[in-house]
Amino acid sequence: MKTVTTVAEVRAEVRAWRAQGLTVGLVPTMGFLHEGHKSLMTAAKAGNDRVVVSIFVNPMQFGPTEDLASYPRDLKHDEALCESAGVDLIFHPEPEELYPEGFVSFVDMNGLTKELCGKSRPIHFRGVCTVCNKLFNIVKPDRAYFGEKDAQQLAVIRRMVADLNMDLEIVGCPIVREADGLAKSSRNIYLTAEEREQALVLSKAVKLAAKLFADGERNAHVIIDAMTKLIETMPLAEIDYVQIVDSLTIEPVDVIERDALAALAVRFGKARLIDNVTLKV
Ligand code: PAJ
Repeated sequence: MKTVTTVAEVRAEVRAWRAQGLTVGLVPTMGFLHEGHKSLMTAAKAGNDRVVVSIFVNPMQFGPTEDLASYPRDLKHDEALCESAGVDLIFHPEPEELYPEGFVSFVDMNGLTKELCGKSRPIHFRGVCTVCNKLFNIVKPDRAYFGEKDAQQLAVIRRMVADLNMDLEIVGCPIVREADGLAKSSRNIYLTAEEREQALVLSKAVKLAAKLFADGERNAHVIIDAMTKLIETMPLAEIDYVQIVDSLTIEPVDVIERDALAALAVRFGKARLIDNVTLKV
């Protein structure tokens, strides 16, 4: 396994693989890797001859008041995790490598990004789309792997790839959780012991949504109310949103008649955590 920092080095590696007729899988990440990230690498390893992991805390997707400066980083630990997952190449660029002076181009979209995380993070998905587009152009992978943990991001990327005829397959991978149910996240490190305990309510709220839906509830507002009430039993929880949206359009629904996403974002102190479940019709 090799770690490289420039676009030219990635292209040289991938060109050599292509010359041998090998397929390439890409796992885009912001580092501080955990078992959730590793599950994407494992899927990429199983589906491709070579695996590239990008580790880049993308400034463009952070708002001015967000945690860009304090976002956790640990390259040594990340390299060990990638090595253990059989990754072939890590791309770890500096911001100047991807956004040199004079950079003015963006990929943006008119739908899918207004609800859920788009409400409180208005420029977030423009940053995600732009950097993923750049990574796709740099690596030219056959497949790229994204977690269902960030369900809106996965829907946005799928839409972008379809709309702009990008020549790769997007593979979604299930949410990996801690033993007690909390979705694994690089941001869990921000939680104090008390917050960590109370944050368990998030996976419980998502489970409750799945249970109500399985029992036949189709009124989205009834499910949202039940989730909200449960989360509000935790004094440290500050709800950003609890929403049910169409899985494809990410537009709110009143009655669940097509596959929908029950999704939430809740702050516990410094950490803003997300979780979701797909309600399959
Ligand atoms: P990051 O938060 O590092 O996540 C990288 C990938 O890992 C995403 O596809 C995310 O959905 C997936 N992931 C994170 N936690 C997971 C979990 N518990 N189970 C399964 N998958 C999980 O998402 C980003 O980075 C960035 O926005 C990025 C796509 C890299 C663009 O900058």
